[in-house]
Amino acid sequence: MANFETVEVTTDVLICGGGMAACGAAVEAAYWAKKNNLKVTLVDKAAMDRSGAVAMGLSAINQYVDVNSGANTVEDYVEYVRNDLMGITREDLVANIARHVDSTVHLFEKWGLPIWTDADGKYVHEGRWQLMINGESYKVVVAEAAKNALGADNIYERVFITEPLVDDAGNCVGAVGFSVRENKFYVFKAKAVVAAMGGAVHVFKPRSSGEGLGRSWYPPFNSGASAYFTIKAGAEMTCQEVRFIPVRFKDAYGPVGAWFLLFKSRATNGLGENYMETRRDELEKWKPYGLVKPVPANLRNWLMMLDVMEGKGPIYMRTEEAIQKIVDDVPDPKAQKKKLKEVESEAWEDFLDMTISQAILWAATNTFPEEAPSEIAACEPYFIGSHSGASGAWVSGPEDLAPEEYFWGYANMTTVKGLFAAGDASGASSHKFSSGSHAEGRIAAKSAVRYAVENPNMGSVDGGKIDELKATILKPLDLFEQSQGGSTDPDVNPNYIRPKQFMFRLQKIMDEYAGGVSTNFTTNEQLLNKGLELLDFLREDSESLCAEGHHELMRCWENIHRMWQAEAHVRTILFRDETRWPGYYFRADRPAMKDDWKVFANCKYNAADGKWEMIKRDIKTVY
Ligand code: FAD
Ligand code: ADX
Repeated sequence: MANFETVEVTTDVLICGGGMAACGAAVEAAYWAKKNNLKVTLVDKAAMDRSGAVAMGLSAINQYVDVNSGANTVEDYVEYVRNDLMGITREDLVANIARHVDSTVHLFEKWGLPIWTDADGKYVHEGRWQLMINGESYKVVVAEAAKNALGADNIYERVFITEPLVDDAGNCVGAVGFSVRENKFYVFKAKAVVAAMGGAVHVFKPRSSGEGLGRSWYPPFNSGASAYFTIKAGAEMTCQEVRFIPVRFKDAYGPVGAWFLLFKSRATNGLGENYMETRRDELEKWKPYGLVKPVPANLRNWLMMLDVMEGKGPIYMRTEEAIQKIVDDVPDPKAQKKKLKEVESEAWEDFLDMTISQAILWAATNTFPEEAPSEIAACEPYFIGSHSGASGAWVSGPEDLAPEEYFWGYANMTTVKGLFAAGDASGASSHKFSSGSHAEGRIAAKSAVRYAVENPNMGSVDGGKIDELKATILKPLDLFEQSQGGSTDPDVNPNYIRPKQFMFRLQKIMDEYAGGVSTNFTTNEQLLNKGLELLDFLREDSESLCAEGHHELMRCWENIHRMWQAEAHVRTILFRDETRWPGYYFRADRPAMKDDWKVFANCKYNAADGKWEMIKRDIKTVY
């Protein structure tokens, strides 16, 4: 067997992931742990300074409720999220995040994040809930605070968390993983575990091909680890059907929020028509949500997609029109020139802050946004419960807000004792974004520390079981070593499958059967059942994944994680007997929304018999 040293780390609270939610968790856990004399350990597959979705930086903080000034209430935010998710949301979770998010934003500012302010010193809003930032170094700033709070000795970077550790009583008692640089297999033993390893990309075939393959909206580093970890630990999952399809500047995936909200731009089709106006009647079909303001993200997508399917593309963001209007609104002609320069630089900064490749594409295609429009398009599906999707684990709400059915002792604990989730890892609480994920990480960590204090006995997992896990996790290295002589081309071998080929197969299945880009995000019962059959074969072949080195070993496990996310997704789309989010996916055989499906569609994997249980859960309102 591959010669990996086993390193055992015993801690009280283990934080898996190093992104926004994990950094929030680190700061909060460190504070409460100090009071209770506990140890907190964080593990990230990458380096925290630039890991996760915020690696490149961001141009806005998308959740700021501004409760103190009286501008909005927590209830306003809950209403916004409920409508945007077509009625399917955990109001207790959304409210809990919303009431804490402002304090997180104030911490960011204290730690050095530049938030735009106007002449009166007030924050500059992009939209009602969004603040503009100079966010190129957003993640560095947030990670620095987390690292200072925990101390370097308690942080493991470049260690890939692979599997949860679950004791005989079914409690989560740690995790195992491996270093992506050294021959080290890690066993982390803990009293409480916080899963915060982001969402998933590259489960579906991306639009980008050839050398552009890694270019996607969602960062390629997040590959379904949170979903896999919680599913395999035995946690009930929710909203696994609620993928997110962002509309983005075409091919380089630049953000659209600033254009729609700050610059008040329109999007029009190839004939110059505004689909939000010409297709307004379609919204009636999806009421009450079709008639709310703002129109839910999936329905905005849907109206655009109807134009595309009718052959009315390309779709353009009318940057030239929007800039001209802003400039024309300035009365003094001299001031107009200055205004033009100002808006131009804001437009470029929006991309340079968070999607540099879009700025490069503009430069490469001689695009002057003040002169010509730019194409936008619907991206491939992603799993990101913190944005406008909702997939994640089903977690307990806070004691003071949660209805009885939604509360089981510790806020943000999954249905597995000792396992907590935050950010993309927790479901049915969309629109938390970077700031809300950080706030939710803080909530989950405070709760996890309390759990560790109140449950001081360390659970354990049999040494033999850990040895078995080690052998399974490292097997791809052994397989490559043993079989590489079996062919002259290392990519083609009867004894193994390389992770990249495996990923292509997964993506093809999802694209063609589960409503990806090639099928206009449309599927039906028969296609989904066929997809499940093909996923079964894929799972059989996952036994033959091979790895030439540490990096490829990570690729193997990333793709196994993706495969599980894929299966939970397909099963839940199949279970939900309606179409509720056209624009995210369309069930051609169930083309309308049904009142009796205004429920959560949950699922749970049972390791003992390898079967999935599908569960309907009622929506309980708080407001
Ligand atoms: P992340 O921040 O992505 O962190 C996930 C962490 O898990 C990373 O540290 C990763 O390295 C680690 N990890 C993954 N797998 C493993 C593993 N197997 N083992 C160990 N560690 C692992 N929000 C805003 O507020 N404003 C914006 O302008 C904005 N723009 C966005 C633009 C893009 C392109 C994207 C993708 C998101 C944007 N968001 C924005 C949303 C925001 O980035 C997310 O809501 C937030 O980052 C979610 O936090 P998280 O901790 O769940 O995941
Ligand atoms: S980002 O994550 O890449 O920053 P995006 O640019 O789409 O996302 O949007 C930023 C924020 O603006 C999000 O809160 C999103 O919901 C909101 N938003 C984007 N477009 C619109 C729109 N047309 N109407 C209302 N809200 C929008």
